[in-house]
Parts: sequence; structure tokens; C-alpha cells
Amino acid sequence: MVGKGGVGRSTVAAAIASATAAKGRRTLLYEANASDRFGEFFGHKPVGTSITKLRENLFAVNTTPAAALEEYGLMVLRFRSIYKLVFENRITEAFIKAIPGVEDYALLGKAWFHTKERKGDKAVWDTVVFDMAASGHSLSMLRIPWAITQTVPDGPLTRDAKEIQRLLCDPERTAVVMVTMAEDMPSNEAIDLSKQMHDHLGLSTSQLIVNQLYEDRFPEGSPQDQILSALDASAAELGPALHAVRAHALQYRSRRKLNETYLARLAKTLRTPQVHLPRIFAAKLGGGDIDRLAKTLHSEMC
Ligand SMILES: Nc1ncnc2c1ncn2[C@@H]1O[C@H](COP(=O)(O)OP(=O)(O)OP(=O)(O)O)[C@@H](O)[C@H]1O
Ligand SMILES: [Mg+2]
Repeated sequence: MVGKGGVGRSTVAAAIASATAAKGRRTLLYEANASDRFGEFFGHKPVGTSITKLRENLFAVNTTPAAALEEYGLMVLRFRSIYKLVFENRITEAFIKAIPGVEDYALLGKAWFHTKERKGDKAVWDTVVFDMAASGHSLSMLRIPWAITQTVPDGPLTRDAKEIQRLLCDPERTAVVMVTMAEDMPSNEAIDLSKQMHDHLGLSTSQLIVNQLYEDRFPEGSPQDQILSALDASAAELGPALHAVRAHALQYRSRRKLNETYLARLAKTLRTPQVHLPRIFAAKLGGGDIDRLAKTLHSEMC
């Protein structure tokens, strides 16, 4: 999941994960260094760095670079005592922190590790939903395997980096899901990010999710539209309550018009299949709202 900050990447990631889990796919909702709201969405406490079950088939983790590095270190070195000697040593710690991108690579590497995690002859996860950082940061994280294969001599590091590249570039296994809003800045960033991912990494956006849309409640010529026009024409005679209704409805209609302009622009520029999600008017989104978004995603994507 990629997109501009604040457009709803985490909300949509939770909705996608909830939809795949409901279909019976064992799903891991993966985020890093984030505000840890996945637990709250499903009536649970914050999930933290341990994988936590939220619902049937639905699990989440909010990892940190330190936790991801520890997992990687333990995977390579196998024993906690050796890990402690190597990684929890002041000099190694300072050295690791000095390598550019190492923390991001650990976070990406942990997500990749979960995609190939197995128990016996069975994959542990059917779907891993990676709620990535905002635009530029996700791009710099995704670039790391390419930087490694281009600069590091062949060895274990390049072997893993090549495997991550293959995973990311395989449309059968990876879907790049771009979340945006039909507004000026978010749609510009979605167009720009899509282009950069394509041009620099060869990654095509599989799905564009346009979130927080005002719905078309006043289609031209519809009874609602006519009532609103009549209210507007007699604005001077309205009492305070109807005045407020008129102002709210006019604002809603003009936001929808603005959304339509950007929807058309996104369709023309990106040519990526779009799914539209409504703006939900609630003080705080909860499990029921996530399920509502999941239902729309399910019906529009399947
Ligand atoms: N469809 C929606 N309807 C109403 N509110 C929404 C919707 N989607 C997201 N929001 C709200 O918008 C805000 C931002 O959502 P969210 O945290 O999912 O975005 P994000 O892209 O993950 O942000 P960040 O860049 O901070 O990680 C939140 O308050 C969330 O509840
Ligand atoms: Mg988020």
C-alpha cells in the first residue's frame, strides 16, 4: 500500500486485510514505525512488535527497525547468544546505524521474510498487506534492493536483494496498491509516485484506490438536486435550520464536483483500474466502518 501521507493508506490496508481474511486467507497486516491503530480498528489494544491476532485469519504487527534487525540477525546467526554478541555490541550498533538505508531494508526484509515463512510444507501467510510509509519514503525503501544489486558484489546480501526484486516485480505475487484522494495534492502525488515507481523500478500500479470520496448525492436533474436548487433560490426566506441544511448540501455538492474533476484526471493520466471508497462521516472510524469499506472493496475488486 503506497500513497501520500494522510490519504487513508492504513485505513484502506485494514479494509483490504479484513476482506482477504473474511475470504479465508490467513492475512498479516504489516506496518512499521506507525501510529499503531490496527488494534483499535478491531477493538483490540495496540498490537506492538509481536504478531497479534485481531480476528479469525487476521493478524497484525507494528514493527520497528530494531525489532526487524533483531529478527534478521537471529535468522542469520541462529542463536540469541551469538546475536547479542554481534548485534548488541556498541561498535556494531554504531556501524549498523551508519549504513544508509539499513533500517528501511530491515523493515522491507522482514515483510519479505513473512511472504516466504513456512510451517512444515505450508506457507504461514496467504496474504501480507504492507502498509508502507508515505510517498517518497516508500519509494526510497523500495529502491534499496536495486541499489544493493547494482553496487554490492555477489554474495548473500545480493542474493536476498534479487529475491526481493523478483517478488516485487512479479504481478502474480505482488500488487502495488496506490491510495489517493480525488483532490489536488494527493492526486498529483499519486501520479508522480506511480510514474517514479514505473520508471525507476519497473513496478506498475495494479490498483488505484480513491478514498474519502463525497458520494454523488445530488445527480443533475434528480429530485434531490431540484430540492437543493429550490432551497438555494429562496435562501433569504429560510429559517436558521434550513439555512444550515442548504449550506451543508451546497458544500457537499461542490466537493463532489471537485472530486469528479480529479477522478477524470486520474483516469486519463494513470489508466489504472480504480476503486472508489466513500468518505465516512464518523468522529472516529471503527470495526464497522472498516467492514463497510472492505465490502465495497470486495464487490468492486472481485
Ligand atoms: N474513507 C474514509 N472516510 C472517513 N475518514 C477516513 C477514511 N479513510 C481514512 N479516514 C480518516 O483519515 C485520517 C487518515 O487516515 P489514515 O491514518 O488511514 O491515513 P494514512 O495515509 O495511513 O496516514 P499516515 O500518512 O499518517 O500514515 C484518519 O483520521 C482516518 O480515520
Ligand atoms: Mg498510516
